[in-house]
Amino acid sequence: MNKESIVKAVHVIEEKLTKRPEIGLILGSGLGVLADEIKDPVNISYADIPGFPVSTVVGHAGQLVIGELEGKTVLAMQGRFHFYEGYGLDEVTFPVRVMKQIGIDKVIVTNAAGGVNADFEAGDLMLITDHINNVGINPLIGPNDEDLGVRFPDMSTAYASDYQQLAEQVARDLDINLQKGVYVWNSGPSYETPAEIRMLQKVGGDAVGMSTVPEVIVAQHSGMKVLGLSCISNMAAGILDQPLSHEEVIETTEKVREDFLKLVKGIVNKLPGE
Ligand code: HPA
Repeated sequence: MNKESIVKAVHVIEEKLTKRPEIGLILGSGLGVLADEIKDPVNISYADIPGFPVSTVVGHAGQLVIGELEGKTVLAMQGRFHFYEGYGLDEVTFPVRVMKQIGIDKVIVTNAAGGVNADFEAGDLMLITDHINNVGINPLIGPNDEDLGVRFPDMSTAYASDYQQLAEQVARDLDINLQKGVYVWNSGPSYETPAEIRMLQKVGGDAVGMSTVPEVIVAQHSGMKVLGLSCISNMAAGILDQPLSHEEVIETTEKVREDFLKLVKGIVNKLPGE
C-alpha cells in the first residue's frame, strides 16, 4: 500500500470538505440508500478520486457521500469494491486507508449476507460479533508500512465490544430484532453449495457474504474501531428448498430498509464523540 496514493486521494477529498468526518460508513448491496439520508451532502464520484477503483456491480452507485447524519459528520461509501470484481485486496481496502488518513477512527461496515444459522430468517438484521476469513488471502500480505500499522495485528477484538453493546441497546430501544453472529467471507461470485453451507454451520458461521472482512482487517490494522451489521438477505444454499438469486438479495434488503436505516441512524446518534 503506497502512502503517496493515499495522500493524493485525501487531498482531492479534503479540498471539497468544510468539516472533518468522524465516522465512516461502508454500505453494502441494496443498503446504499442510507447515504440518501445524509444532509448537506458533498458527493464525490469514485471516478474523480485518484487511486479509487470504479465499482462495477449493479446496485452500487460508486460515490462518497459526506455530510451530516444524526448530528455527526459522516463519510459514506455508497458502493464498495469486491474481490470477485477482480480488484486486488489493496484496491478493495484503499478507501479504508483513505478514511483513516482523513482522521476517521470509527467505521460502520454493512453488507447483505446469506443466513447460515438455521434459526435466522431472510430479512433479519445481524450484528457481526466476529468473522472467519474463508478465502485464505489477506489484504496485509506484502511489505508492512509501520506508519500504517503493525506487522501482525491482533484480531481478537476486531468488532469493538462497546460498539456491539451500543448496537444491541439501540435495537432494543427501537424494538428491532437484532441477531448476533459470526460472518464468514467467501470470495464469490458464485453462491455456496449446500455442502459448503453445512461446513460453515459446523465451523461456527452464522452468515456468509462476499465482502467486509478485507475492510475490517485493514481497519483493525489502522487502529480504527469497527461495528459490523449484516442484512440477512436470503437463507444460504440448501437451507430452504429454493435457488438463490441476486434479485432476492436486493428485494429483501429493500424490505428491511426502514429498520436498517433506523438502526444505523440510532447507532450513529449514540456513538460517542472524540
Ligand atoms: N452467499 C454469499 N454471499 C451472499 C449471500 C449468500 O447466500 N447472500 C448475499 N450475499
